[in-house]
Amino acid sequence: MKQWGIWLVIMMCFLSGAFVLDAALGPPAFATSDAELQAVQEQWQSSAHALADVNCSSCHQAEQTKKFVALPTQESCKSCHTEAVDTFLLGKHGIRIQEGESPLTPAMAHLPMQTEAQDRVMNCNTCHDVHSVNTQTAAVDACLTCHNDTHSQNFQNSKHAQLWQQDIKLPRPSAQAVSCATCHLPRHDIGTKNKPQVVVNHNNTYTLLPRDRMAKEVCMNCHGMEYAFNSIFDDDLVVSNFARPPTEKLTTLEMIRASETKRSGN
Ligand code: HEC
Ligand code: HEC
Ligand code: HEC
Ligand code: HEC
Ligand code: HEC
Ligand code: HEC
Repeated sequence: MKQWGIWLVIMMCFLSGAFVLDAALGPPAFATSDAELQAVQEQWQSSAHALADVNCSSCHQAEQTKKFVALPTQESCKSCHTEAVDTFLLGKHGIRIQEGESPLTPAMAHLPMQTEAQDRVMNCNTCHDVHSVNTQTAAVDACLTCHNDTHSQNFQNSKHAQLWQQDIKLPRPSAQAVSCATCHLPRHDIGTKNKPQVVVNHNNTYTLLPRDRMAKEVCMNCHGMEYAFNSIFDDDLVVSNFARPPTEKLTTLEMIRASETKRSGN
């Protein structure tokens, strides 16, 4: 049997209880096997969504019309994850969708990409599968399924990658480790005193320009200012993905230090 629509409706009734069967659900948009559905169900079951009572209908039923949606888009995430959706659409990864064009694929890239990945599309399902919403694979392994430039491939040789390896046993990526996402999709604290909330800035262009933005917003959470600036403006060190200590000394920093010394008289 490949009655995807019917199976989903049954499962949604079963899982959400309150799900209302709508006569306008219409014919299934595509067919899927029982095994496929079972796999999706299992991925969802152990996800953060299942724990938070976000179920099949939360994404597969249109909010306004209550119609069944076979392949939801980022619109289905927006009511609960506004920041993630809005920031994704502003960066290189998402801007084509924002502009109403077909999603970005590695085939369109100037940067070196994995050959097997040429036709993969970029959306919310690409790095963290929408059913398992696994943010650990999303932060490094997922990136490397597409990115194949020297900087990306060198990440594994860095001390940052060792810290990341130590993190793998935790259920959620910690703030002590450094992944690709730490630098390129940084966490933003948008919480208030009474309501703590940390969200991920999904705009992958944001920390690239100007370059010192990453030094201030990311590196300086862990390193001093001089170390951070001397590292980030050293092109070879960036290509090596910070796999050695910085050797450059920025002359501006030297000048600031000299004038500080003169001013304080020691
Ligand atoms: C967090 C939102 C969300 C939840 C919860 C969710 N889905 Fe999905 N589902 C999606 C999105 C988005 C897609 C489209 C993925 C893509 O772009 O290919 C999708 C695609 C699918 C597909 C077809 C593609 C595939 O991955 O096999 C099936 C089948 C499916 N969902 C079934 C389910 C079932 C059954 C449940 C409940 C156990 C469920 N979904 C829960 C968002 C969700
Ligand atoms: C009905 C609200 C709702 C919808 C719709 C929804 N989510 Fe979520 N999502 C949540 C909640 C609640 C959590 C758990 C938050 C937490 O633990 O801090 C969560 C957590 C997540 C996480 C983090 C998982 C983790 O391990 O911390 C990701 C990634 C995620 N959602 C992606 C999506 C995507 C992609 C979509 C759309 C396809 C989507 N969500 C749709 C409510 C929603
Ligand atoms: C489906 C493939 C795919 C995945 C997965 C992916 N990317 Fe990309 N990424 C691309 C493509 C394609 C581009 C555009 C490259 C170009 O135009 O040369 C890009 C561009 C970028 C850029 C450059 C942005 C700019 O404005 O120039 C950065 C940084 C980046 N990705 C980081 C990441 C990180 C970090 C991850 C994982 C969290 C990731 N990417 C996952 C395909 C992917
Ligand atoms: C380029 C890879 C990539 C894409 C594409 C992507 N995400 Fe994420 N997302 C991540 C990573 C990596 C994390 C975890 C980062 C961390 O732990 O610091 C994350 C975390 C999240 C979280 C939990 C933190 C938060 O901000 O609440 C949510 C929710 C989320 N993503 C939603 C989405 C939605 C919605 C889309 C589509 C608009 C999307 N993601 C597309 C890589 C991606
Ligand atoms: C410690 C921070 C850091 C980590 C970790 C890191 N990067 Fe980068 N990345 C940078 C910096 C800095 C640049 C250079 C920005 C510039 O050219 O101005 C860069 C550049 C890039 C670019 C090229 C952007 C362009 O337009 O040339 C891509 C793609 C990229 N990184 C992907 C990744 C991936 C994938 C990973 C993980 C495997 C990763 N990065 C890990 C800091 C980092
Ligand atoms: C979450 C904390 C954290 C963040 C964020 C971070 N680092 Fe690191 N970094 C570390 C730790 C810890 C080490 C290992 C120090 C050691 O072993 O001596 C390290 C090591 C390094 C090294 C030396 C590598 C070596 O082989 O000795 C460089 C260079 C470096 N980081 C640059 C950066 C830059 C540039 C950024 C921002 C783009 C950054 N780091 C972001 C924690 C961080």
